[in-house]
Amino acid sequence: MSPQPPALRVGIVGYGVMGKAHSYGYRVAPMLRALPVTPVVSVMSGRNGPAVAAAAAAYGIPEHTTDWRALVARDDIDVVDICTPPGTHAEIARAAAAAGKAVLCEKPLALTYPEAAAALAAVTSAGVHHAVGFNYRRLPAVALMRHMVAGGAIGEVRLWRATWLSDEFTDPGTPYDWRFDRQMGGTTIADLGSHLIDMALWMAGEIRAVCAQSATFIAERPPPGGGGRAGTGAGARAVTVDDASSALLRFGSGALGAMEVARAAVRRPCDFTVEVNGSRGTLVFDYARLNELRYGSADDDPGLYGMRRIRAEHPSHPYAGSWWPIGQGVGYGASFGNQVADLLEGWPGAPWSPGFGQGAAVQAVCDAMEASAAQGRWVTVSEVTGAA
Ligand SMILES: NC(=O)c1ccc[n+]([C@@H]2O[C@H](COP(=O)([O-])OP(=O)(O)OC[C@H]3O[C@@H](n4cnc5c(N)ncnc54)[C@H](O)[C@@H]3O)[C@@H](O)[C@H]2O)c1
Repeated sequence: MSPQPPALRVGIVGYGVMGKAHSYGYRVAPMLRALPVTPVVSVMSGRNGPAVAAAAAAYGIPEHTTDWRALVARDDIDVVDICTPPGTHAEIARAAAAAGKAVLCEKPLALTYPEAAAALAAVTSAGVHHAVGFNYRRLPAVALMRHMVAGGAIGEVRLWRATWLSDEFTDPGTPYDWRFDRQMGGTTIADLGSHLIDMALWMAGEIRAVCAQSATFIAERPPPGGGGRAGTGAGARAVTVDDASSALLRFGSGALGAMEVARAAVRRPCDFTVEVNGSRGTLVFDYARLNELRYGSADDDPGLYGMRRIRAEHPSHPYAGSWWPIGQGVGYGASFGNQVADLLEGWPGAPWSPGFGQGAAVQAVCDAMEASAAQGRWVTVSEVTGAA
Protein backbone atom coordinates (compact mmCIF):
# COMPACT_ATOMS: atom_id res chain seq x y z
CA MET A 1 0.00 0.00 0.00
CA SER A 2 1.41 3.38 -0.94
CA PRO A 3 1.59 5.84 1.97
CA GLN A 4 -0.92 8.68 2.11
CA PRO A 5 0.64 12.00 1.10
CA PRO A 6 1.34 14.35 4.02
CA ALA A 7 -1.53 16.42 5.40
CA LEU A 8 -2.13 20.01 4.30
CA ARG A 9 -4.06 21.55 7.17
CA VAL A 10 -6.93 23.86 6.33
CA GLY A 11 -8.96 26.24 8.47
CA ILE A 12 -12.30 27.38 7.04
CA VAL A 13 -13.71 30.74 8.16
CA GLY A 14 -17.52 30.62 7.89
CA TYR A 15 -19.85 27.64 8.08
CA GLY A 16 -22.71 28.72 5.79
CA VAL A 17 -23.44 27.56 2.27
CA MET A 18 -19.85 28.05 1.16
CA GLY A 19 -18.36 26.59 4.33
CA LYS A 20 -20.24 23.41 3.42
CA ALA A 21 -19.31 23.51 -0.28
CA HIS A 22 -15.61 24.03 0.45
CA SER A 23 -15.59 21.30 3.11
CA TYR A 24 -17.03 18.98 0.49
CA GLY A 25 -14.36 20.03 -2.02
CA TYR A 26 -11.49 19.09 0.31
CA ARG A 27 -13.05 15.67 0.96
CA VAL A 28 -13.57 14.89 -2.71
CA ALA A 29 -10.37 16.22 -4.29
CA PRO A 30 -8.09 13.28 -3.36
CA MET A 31 -10.60 10.91 -4.97
CA LEU A 32 -10.30 12.79 -8.24
CA ARG A 33 -6.58 13.16 -8.70
CA ALA A 34 -3.30 12.03 -7.19
CA LEU A 35 -2.26 15.01 -5.07
CA PRO A 36 1.10 15.62 -3.38
CA VAL A 37 -0.70 16.48 -0.13
CA THR A 38 -3.88 15.32 1.57
CA PRO A 39 -6.11 18.28 2.46
CA VAL A 40 -7.48 17.98 5.99
CA VAL A 41 -9.92 20.57 7.32
CA SER A 42 -8.95 20.68 10.95
CA VAL A 43 -10.85 23.73 12.21
CA MET A 44 -13.83 25.88 11.22
CA SER A 45 -14.87 29.26 12.63
CA GLY A 46 -18.18 31.11 12.80
CA ARG A 47 -19.78 33.77 14.96
CA ASN A 48 -22.52 31.58 16.40
CA GLY A 49 -21.00 28.95 18.74
CA PRO A 50 -23.72 26.27 18.65
CA ALA A 51 -24.22 26.71 14.90
CA VAL A 52 -20.53 26.39 14.05
CA ALA A 53 -20.25 23.39 16.39
CA ALA A 54 -23.14 21.69 14.58
CA ALA A 55 -21.69 22.49 11.16
CA ALA A 56 -18.22 21.23 12.10
CA ALA A 57 -19.72 17.99 13.40
CA ALA A 58 -21.77 17.52 10.24
CA TYR A 59 -18.80 18.17 7.95
CA GLY A 60 -16.43 15.95 9.96
CA ILE A 61 -14.20 18.81 11.16
CA PRO A 62 -12.68 18.03 14.57
CA GLU A 63 -12.34 21.57 15.97
CA HIS A 64 -14.30 24.81 15.85
CA THR A 65 -14.02 28.33 17.23
CA THR A 66 -16.00 31.57 17.29
CA ASP A 67 -12.83 33.63 16.74
CA TRP A 68 -11.47 33.72 13.18
CA ARG A 69 -8.34 35.48 14.44
CA ALA A 70 -7.55 32.49 16.65
CA LEU A 71 -7.93 30.23 13.59
CA VAL A 72 -5.58 32.40 11.53
CA ALA A 73 -2.99 32.54 14.34
CA ARG A 74 -2.66 28.77 14.70
CA ASP A 75 0.73 27.29 13.82
CA ASP A 76 -0.89 24.05 12.73
CA ILE A 77 -2.86 25.62 9.85
CA ASP A 78 -1.35 25.90 6.36
CA VAL A 79 -4.34 27.26 4.39
CA VAL A 80 -6.98 29.79 5.44
CA ASP A 81 -10.17 29.39 3.40
CA ILE A 82 -12.50 32.41 3.63
CA CYS A 83 -16.22 31.65 3.30
CA THR A 84 -17.73 34.71 5.00
CA PRO A 85 -19.60 37.71 3.53
CA PRO A 86 -17.59 39.90 1.13
CA GLY A 87 -17.26 42.80 3.58
CA THR A 88 -15.06 40.62 5.79
CA HIS A 89 -12.84 39.09 3.08
CA ALA A 90 -10.02 41.60 2.72
CA GLU A 91 -9.33 41.92 6.44
CA ILE A 92 -9.20 38.15 6.94
CA ALA A 93 -7.08 37.69 3.81
CA ARG A 94 -4.57 40.32 4.94
CA ALA A 95 -4.32 38.73 8.40
CA ALA A 96 -3.86 35.26 6.89
CA ALA A 97 -1.14 36.52 4.55
CA ALA A 98 0.65 38.24 7.43
CA ALA A 99 0.58 34.90 9.28
CA GLY A 100 2.19 33.21 6.26
CA LYS A 101 -0.84 31.13 5.29
CA ALA A 102 -2.00 30.29 1.79
CA VAL A 103 -5.38 31.95 1.20
CA LEU A 104 -8.40 30.79 -0.74
CA CYS A 105 -11.05 33.51 -0.64
CA GLU A 106 -14.64 33.27 -1.84
CA LYS A 107 -15.77 35.79 -4.43
CA PRO A 108 -15.97 38.74 -4.60
CA LEU A 109 -12.48 39.41 -3.26
CA ALA A 110 -13.45 42.64 -1.50
CA LEU A 111 -15.93 45.51 -1.18
CA THR A 112 -14.13 47.85 -3.58
CA TYR A 113 -11.26 47.84 -6.04
CA PRO A 114 -8.84 49.66 -3.66
CA GLU A 115 -9.59 47.07 -0.97
CA ALA A 116 -9.04 44.23 -3.46
CA ALA A 117 -5.77 45.80 -4.62
CA ALA A 118 -4.62 46.05 -0.98
CA ALA A 119 -5.42 42.37 -0.46
CA LEU A 120 -3.43 41.53 -3.61
CA ALA A 121 -0.50 43.58 -2.33
CA ALA A 122 -0.66 41.78 1.04
CA VAL A 123 -0.52 38.25 -0.41
CA THR A 124 2.12 39.26 -2.94
CA SER A 125 4.45 40.81 -0.39
CA ALA A 126 3.92 37.87 2.00
CA GLY A 127 4.78 35.46 -0.84
CA VAL A 128 1.86 33.16 -0.03
CA HIS A 129 -0.38 31.21 -2.43
CA HIS A 130 -3.67 32.96 -3.17
CA ALA A 131 -6.83 32.17 -5.08
CA VAL A 132 -10.39 33.46 -5.47
CA GLY A 133 -13.28 30.99 -5.54
CA PHE A 134 -14.48 31.44 -9.09
CA ASN A 135 -15.63 27.85 -9.03
CA TYR A 136 -17.92 27.89 -12.06
CA ARG A 137 -14.83 27.89 -14.31
CA ARG A 138 -14.21 24.39 -13.02
CA LEU A 139 -17.42 22.90 -14.36
CA PRO A 140 -16.44 20.60 -17.22
CA ALA A 141 -18.68 22.31 -19.79
CA VAL A 142 -17.58 25.84 -18.85
CA ALA A 143 -13.93 24.77 -18.93
CA LEU A 144 -14.52 23.13 -22.30
CA MET A 145 -16.17 26.30 -23.60
CA ARG A 146 -13.15 28.37 -22.66
CA HIS A 147 -10.81 25.72 -24.10
CA MET A 148 -12.71 25.81 -27.41
CA VAL A 149 -12.77 29.63 -27.54
CA ALA A 150 -9.02 29.79 -26.82
CA GLY A 151 -8.38 27.07 -29.41
CA GLY A 152 -10.11 29.03 -32.17
CA ALA A 153 -13.26 26.87 -32.49
CA ILE A 154 -15.39 30.00 -33.03
CA GLY A 155 -12.75 32.21 -34.64
CA GLU A 156 -12.31 35.74 -33.36
CA VAL A 157 -14.59 36.60 -30.42
CA ARG A 158 -17.04 39.31 -31.45
CA LEU A 159 -19.97 39.14 -29.03
CA TRP A 160 -20.13 37.90 -25.43
CA ARG A 161 -23.37 37.85 -23.46
CA ALA A 162 -24.56 36.40 -20.21
CA THR A 163 -27.53 36.42 -17.86
CA TRP A 164 -27.84 35.26 -14.29
CA LEU A 165 -31.37 35.12 -12.95
CA SER A 166 -32.42 34.19 -9.44
CA ASP A 167 -35.58 34.63 -7.37
CA GLU A 168 -33.75 35.05 -4.08
CA PHE A 169 -35.11 38.58 -3.47
CA THR A 170 -38.59 38.31 -4.97
CA ASP A 171 -40.44 37.70 -1.69
CA PRO A 172 -40.83 41.02 0.22
CA GLY A 173 -41.04 38.94 3.42
CA THR A 174 -37.46 37.69 3.09
CA PRO A 175 -35.73 39.14 6.16
CA TYR A 176 -32.73 41.43 6.05
CA ASP A 177 -29.28 39.85 6.09
CA TRP A 178 -25.84 40.74 4.72
CA ARG A 179 -27.01 40.23 1.14
CA PHE A 180 -29.11 43.41 1.40
CA ASP A 181 -26.23 45.45 2.82
CA ARG A 182 -23.80 47.35 0.54
CA GLN A 183 -21.35 47.68 3.44
CA MET A 184 -21.12 43.86 3.57
CA GLY A 185 -20.69 43.64 -0.19
CA GLY A 186 -24.11 42.19 -0.85
CA THR A 187 -24.79 43.79 -4.24
CA THR A 188 -26.24 41.69 -7.03
CA ILE A 189 -23.42 43.00 -9.22
CA ALA A 190 -20.87 41.54 -6.78
CA ASP A 191 -22.77 38.38 -5.94
CA LEU A 192 -23.84 37.11 -9.36
CA GLY A 193 -21.99 39.56 -11.59
CA SER A 194 -18.53 38.74 -10.24
CA HIS A 195 -18.80 35.16 -11.55
CA LEU A 196 -19.93 36.34 -14.98
CA ILE A 197 -17.26 39.04 -15.16
CA ASP A 198 -14.62 36.45 -14.25
CA MET A 199 -15.84 34.24 -17.11
CA ALA A 200 -15.94 37.22 -19.49
CA LEU A 201 -12.35 38.23 -18.72
CA TRP A 202 -11.24 34.61 -18.92
CA MET A 203 -12.91 33.89 -22.25
CA ALA A 204 -12.86 37.22 -24.05
CA GLY A 205 -10.10 39.25 -22.41
CA GLU A 206 -9.94 42.68 -20.81
CA ILE A 207 -13.13 44.73 -20.39
CA ARG A 208 -12.41 48.35 -21.20
CA ALA A 209 -15.71 50.15 -20.45
CA VAL A 210 -19.21 49.52 -19.15
CA CYS A 211 -22.59 51.23 -19.33
CA ALA A 212 -24.85 49.93 -16.57
CA GLN A 213 -28.23 50.38 -14.97
CA SER A 214 -29.49 49.13 -11.60
CA ALA A 215 -32.76 49.03 -9.69
CA THR A 216 -33.92 48.18 -6.18
CA PHE A 217 -37.56 47.17 -6.35
CA ILE A 218 -38.12 46.38 -2.67
CA ALA A 219 -36.64 49.16 -0.56
CA GLU A 220 -37.10 47.72 2.95
CA ARG A 221 -36.88 44.29 4.52
CA PRO A 222 -38.21 42.80 7.75
CA PRO A 223 -35.60 42.73 10.51
CA PRO A 224 -32.96 39.98 10.64
CA GLY A 225 -34.35 36.72 11.88
CA GLY A 226 -37.90 37.99 11.29
CA GLY A 227 -39.68 37.32 8.09
CA GLY A 228 -42.96 36.24 6.73
CA ARG A 229 -44.38 39.78 6.74
CA ALA A 230 -43.44 42.37 4.19
CA GLY A 231 -43.56 46.09 4.75
CA THR A 232 -42.31 48.84 6.91
CA GLY A 233 -43.16 47.52 10.35
CA ALA A 234 -41.02 48.06 13.44
CA GLY A 235 -37.40 47.20 12.83
CA ALA A 236 -37.66 47.16 9.03
CA ARG A 237 -34.24 47.75 7.46
CA ALA A 238 -33.42 49.81 4.38
CA VAL A 239 -31.97 47.82 1.47
CA THR A 240 -28.73 49.35 0.17
CA VAL A 241 -28.06 47.03 -2.77
CA ASP A 242 -29.48 46.48 -6.26
CA ASP A 243 -32.10 43.81 -6.89
CA ALA A 244 -31.11 43.76 -10.55
CA SER A 245 -28.48 45.30 -12.84
CA SER A 246 -27.52 45.05 -16.46
CA ALA A 247 -24.67 46.40 -18.53
CA LEU A 248 -23.25 46.82 -21.97
CA LEU A 249 -19.55 45.92 -22.10
CA ARG A 250 -16.76 46.95 -24.45
CA PHE A 251 -13.81 44.59 -24.55
CA GLY A 252 -10.27 45.70 -25.24
CA SER A 253 -10.25 43.41 -28.30
CA GLY A 254 -13.12 45.36 -29.85
CA ALA A 255 -15.69 42.67 -28.97
CA LEU A 256 -19.04 43.79 -27.58
CA GLY A 257 -20.73 42.34 -24.52
CA ALA A 258 -23.96 42.43 -22.57
CA MET A 259 -24.85 41.01 -19.20
CA GLU A 260 -27.84 40.99 -16.89
CA VAL A 261 -27.89 39.91 -13.24
CA ALA A 262 -31.05 39.78 -11.17
CA ARG A 263 -32.24 38.34 -7.89
CA ALA A 264 -35.73 39.60 -8.78
CA ALA A 265 -36.69 36.99 -11.39
CA VAL A 266 -39.66 34.89 -10.21
CA ARG A 267 -39.19 31.13 -10.55
CA ARG A 268 -35.60 31.42 -11.75
CA PRO A 269 -33.57 29.58 -9.09
CA CYS A 270 -29.98 30.12 -10.17
CA ASP A 271 -30.00 30.08 -13.92
CA PHE A 272 -27.06 31.46 -15.79
CA THR A 273 -26.29 31.40 -19.46
CA VAL A 274 -23.17 32.41 -21.35
CA GLU A 275 -23.04 32.76 -25.13
CA VAL A 276 -20.05 33.67 -27.26
CA ASN A 277 -20.37 34.50 -30.93
CA GLY A 278 -17.16 34.49 -32.93
CA SER A 279 -16.32 35.17 -36.56
CA ARG A 280 -16.66 31.42 -37.37
CA GLY A 281 -18.96 29.97 -34.73
CA THR A 282 -21.15 30.16 -31.64
CA LEU A 283 -20.92 28.48 -28.24
CA VAL A 284 -23.72 28.47 -25.64
CA PHE A 285 -23.69 27.28 -22.02
CA ASP A 286 -26.90 27.02 -20.00
CA TYR A 287 -26.55 26.14 -16.31
CA ALA A 288 -29.83 24.24 -16.29
CA ARG A 289 -28.05 21.73 -18.58
CA LEU A 290 -24.65 22.03 -17.01
CA ASN A 291 -23.05 18.98 -18.61
CA GLU A 292 -23.66 20.28 -22.10
CA LEU A 293 -22.56 22.93 -24.56
CA ARG A 294 -24.23 23.96 -27.77
CA TYR A 295 -21.89 24.59 -30.66
CA GLY A 296 -22.33 25.66 -34.25
CA SER A 297 -19.57 26.38 -36.76
CA ALA A 298 -19.58 28.22 -40.08
CA ASP A 299 -17.68 25.17 -41.37
CA ASP A 300 -20.56 22.79 -40.62
CA ASP A 301 -22.48 21.17 -43.47
CA PRO A 302 -25.20 23.72 -44.40
CA GLY A 303 -27.60 20.81 -44.71
CA LEU A 304 -27.22 20.31 -40.95
CA TYR A 305 -27.81 24.00 -40.19
CA GLY A 306 -28.13 24.62 -36.44
CA MET A 307 -26.18 23.86 -33.32
CA ARG A 308 -25.09 20.48 -32.00
CA ARG A 309 -25.24 19.51 -28.34
CA ILE A 310 -21.84 18.49 -26.98
CA ARG A 311 -21.91 16.38 -23.83
CA ALA A 312 -18.91 17.65 -21.87
CA GLU A 313 -18.45 14.26 -20.27
CA HIS A 314 -15.99 12.61 -22.61
CA PRO A 315 -12.72 11.62 -20.90
CA SER A 316 -10.94 13.95 -23.33
CA HIS A 317 -12.86 16.95 -21.91
CA PRO A 318 -11.53 19.04 -19.00
CA TYR A 319 -12.22 17.43 -15.59
CA ALA A 320 -14.62 14.83 -17.01
CA GLY A 321 -12.18 11.92 -16.87
CA SER A 322 -11.76 12.14 -13.11
CA TRP A 323 -15.51 11.91 -12.45
CA TRP A 324 -18.14 9.37 -13.41
CA PRO A 325 -18.49 7.16 -16.48
CA ILE A 326 -19.73 9.08 -19.49
CA GLY A 327 -23.44 9.80 -19.35
CA GLN A 328 -23.70 10.21 -15.56
CA GLY A 329 -22.91 13.91 -15.44
CA VAL A 330 -21.74 16.07 -12.55
CA GLY A 331 -23.36 18.87 -10.51
CA TYR A 332 -22.47 22.07 -8.69
CA GLY A 333 -20.46 20.25 -6.02
CA ALA A 334 -18.01 18.98 -8.64
CA SER A 335 -16.71 22.49 -9.16
CA PHE A 336 -15.49 22.58 -5.55
CA GLY A 337 -13.70 19.23 -5.77
CA ASN A 338 -12.11 20.33 -9.04
CA GLN A 339 -11.10 23.63 -7.44
CA VAL A 340 -9.19 21.95 -4.61
CA ALA A 341 -7.59 19.42 -6.99
CA ASP A 342 -6.44 22.23 -9.31
CA LEU A 343 -4.98 24.27 -6.46
CA LEU A 344 -3.19 21.42 -4.74
CA GLU A 345 -1.98 19.42 -7.73
CA GLY A 346 1.22 21.46 -7.96
CA TRP A 347 1.65 22.17 -4.24
CA PRO A 348 3.87 23.78 -3.06
CA GLY A 349 5.66 25.03 -6.18
CA ALA A 350 2.90 26.00 -8.62
CA PRO A 351 1.12 29.33 -8.14
CA TRP A 352 -2.65 29.18 -7.67
CA SER A 353 -5.07 30.41 -10.29
CA PRO A 354 -7.22 32.45 -10.56
CA GLY A 355 -5.36 34.53 -7.97
CA PHE A 356 -6.09 37.80 -6.23
CA GLY A 357 -4.94 39.66 -9.37
CA GLN A 358 -7.97 38.24 -11.17
CA GLY A 359 -10.12 38.98 -8.10
CA ALA A 360 -9.02 42.62 -8.26
CA ALA A 361 -9.62 42.79 -12.02
CA VAL A 362 -13.16 41.49 -11.53
CA GLN A 363 -13.69 43.95 -8.68
CA ALA A 364 -12.66 46.84 -10.91
CA VAL A 365 -15.39 45.93 -13.41
CA CYS A 366 -17.95 45.58 -10.58
CA ASP A 367 -16.98 49.04 -9.33
CA ALA A 368 -17.19 50.46 -12.85
CA MET A 369 -20.71 49.02 -13.21
CA GLU A 370 -21.81 50.55 -9.91
CA ALA A 371 -20.34 53.94 -10.86
CA SER A 372 -21.92 53.80 -14.30
CA ALA A 373 -25.36 52.96 -12.93
CA ALA A 374 -25.10 55.74 -10.34
CA GLN A 375 -23.87 58.36 -12.80
CA GLY A 376 -25.82 57.35 -15.89
CA ARG A 377 -22.82 57.25 -18.24
CA TRP A 378 -20.21 54.95 -19.75
CA VAL A 379 -17.37 54.35 -17.26
CA THR A 380 -13.96 53.04 -18.28
CA VAL A 381 -12.39 50.43 -16.03
CA SER A 382 -9.19 52.51 -15.99
CA GLU A 383 -11.15 55.25 -14.17
CA VAL A 384 -11.49 52.72 -11.32
CA THR A 385 -7.99 51.29 -11.39
CA GLY A 386 -6.21 54.56 -12.14
CA ALA A 387 -4.27 52.77 -14.91
CA ALA A 388 -2.98 55.06 -17.64
N1 LIG B 1 -18.92 30.42 -5.40
C1 LIG B 1 -20.20 30.23 -5.19
O1 LIG B 1 -20.86 29.44 -5.87
C2 LIG B 1 -20.87 30.99 -4.07
C3 LIG B 1 -22.19 30.71 -3.70
C4 LIG B 1 -22.74 31.38 -2.60
C5 LIG B 1 -21.98 32.33 -1.92
N2 LIG B 1 -20.71 32.60 -2.33
C6 LIG B 1 -19.87 33.59 -1.62
O2 LIG B 1 -19.41 32.97 -0.42
C7 LIG B 1 -19.36 33.92 0.66
C8 LIG B 1 -20.23 33.39 1.81
O3 LIG B 1 -21.56 33.20 1.32
P1 LIG B 1 -22.55 32.14 2.00
O4 LIG B 1 -23.67 31.97 1.04
O5 LIG B 1 -21.78 30.94 2.43
O6 LIG B 1 -23.02 32.96 3.27
P2 LIG B 1 -23.85 32.45 4.52
O7 LIG B 1 -24.69 33.60 4.95
O8 LIG B 1 -24.48 31.12 4.24
O9 LIG B 1 -22.70 32.19 5.61
C9 LIG B 1 -21.93 33.28 6.08
C10 LIG B 1 -20.92 32.81 7.10
O10 LIG B 1 -20.12 33.93 7.44
C11 LIG B 1 -20.20 34.18 8.85
N3 LIG B 1 -20.11 35.64 9.08
C12 LIG B 1 -19.02 36.30 9.50
N4 LIG B 1 -19.23 37.62 9.57
C13 LIG B 1 -20.48 37.82 9.18
C14 LIG B 1 -21.29 38.97 9.06
N5 LIG B 1 -20.82 40.19 9.37
N6 LIG B 1 -22.56 38.82 8.61
C15 LIG B 1 -23.04 37.59 8.29
N7 LIG B 1 -22.30 36.44 8.39
C16 LIG B 1 -21.04 36.55 8.85
C17 LIG B 1 -21.49 33.54 9.29
O11 LIG B 1 -21.40 33.22 10.67
C18 LIG B 1 -21.55 32.32 8.39
O12 LIG B 1 -20.71 31.31 8.91
C19 LIG B 1 -19.83 35.24 0.06
O13 LIG B 1 -18.70 35.98 -0.31
C20 LIG B 1 -20.62 34.83 -1.18
O14 LIG B 1 -20.58 35.83 -2.21
C21 LIG B 1 -20.14 31.95 -3.37
